[in-house]
Amino acid sequence: MTAGSDRSSRILVTGGAGFLGSYLVKSLLSTGHEVVVLDNGCLKNLEEVNSNPRLEIIQASVTSPFPSHIQASRIYHLACHASPKQFGLRPLEILETCYVGTKNALEAARKWNARILLASTSEVYGNPQVCPQPETYNGNVNCFGPRACYDEGKRVAEALAYAHREQSGVDVRIARIFNVYGPGMPASDGRVVCSFVDAAISSRDLVITGSGAASRCFQYVDDCVAGVRLLMESAWSQGPMNIGSETETTMAELAEIVLQRVAAQRHGRRSKIVYDGAVKDDPQRRRPDCSLAKRVLGWEPCVSLEDGTDRTVAWFLASDENDR
Ligand SMILES: NC(=O)c1ccc[n+]([C@@H]2O[C@H](COP(=O)([O-])OP(=O)(O)OC[C@H]3O[C@@H](n4cnc5c(N)ncnc54)[C@H](O)[C@@H]3O)[C@@H](O)[C@H]2O)c1
Repeated sequence: MTAGSDRSSRILVTGGAGFLGSYLVKSLLSTGHEVVVLDNGCLKNLEEVNSNPRLEIIQASVTSPFPSHIQASRIYHLACHASPKQFGLRPLEILETCYVGTKNALEAARKWNARILLASTSEVYGNPQVCPQPETYNGNVNCFGPRACYDEGKRVAEALAYAHREQSGVDVRIARIFNVYGPGMPASDGRVVCSFVDAAISSRDLVITGSGAASRCFQYVDDCVAGVRLLMESAWSQGPMNIGSETETTMAELAEIVLQRVAAQRHGRRSKIVYDGAVKDDPQRRRPDCSLAKRVLGWEPCVSLEDGTDRTVAWFLASDENDR
């Protein structure tokens, strides 16, 4: 692929080697786009497409200025560690990625006259005091705690996007993404669906932190990619948009669903559900109000938690890496 390629379909995905990014990259390739990935991490998720002539992979950090030859017309800016385990291990890197990386992405969008979509998060609502959360809710976030690097990092990223839109006229979309899960999400990164599936397949205890009453709304990864792509191509530049499932599930309910779905696909000792101390600043309730996405994009998730969990369990069982 050369710098002179058709700009109209050339798309940059930062963080394109991550869990969500790799699904997005495969989806964009499957619809004929030229895709450039900018990522400084492991490329394993892109193994099945890395020989595609329409894919260019640049292994670099978004905290350095973007290579000018990319010249994309669309930028999906996903680069940022999303696993809660990373929040404790590299908070400064996450903050730098959110601030400097987003500043560089917006600067590239300005120079290339590209449209940019920022992958923001439900974490900008913190531990919400309003449920469900509409985009107009300003959140309840602790700026001095273990999740602050990510939550406040994403908030400053949104603020940068706003400032660039106002000051430089950059064409910005902001997706506030709620908990995504699916095949390919590493069991080790601490996100709950895959941690539970991994534990159940290994007949280990499913450990619920807190009472089990905390809730999340889980969306299957293909649904999220569809929503994000629709938002990118929509005329909606007025403000952030929630992209998530509105079906609320408590941690105790999720653990039961996972145990049932694993038992349906694999015979073995059934794991126990055990309870551990609550994690500091872990939000108690998370539920998006997605009426904006329904009205503007005509989008809502269509994969149920049961079906999505079945697909995730099947992937874990089939995966060589997780073979046991
Ligand atoms: N998965 C979810 O449930 C979820 C929910 C809300 C928002 N999001 C957002 O979507 C995006 C992708 O999430 P994910 O689940 O794929 O996360 P992930 O952690 O699986 O992937 C993140 C990717 O970004 C890369 N990256 C991190 N810092 C970088 C840097 N400085 N330079 C270049 N690359 C860098 C990593 O190497 C990795 O490949 C993130 O911005 C996340 O905040 C995800």
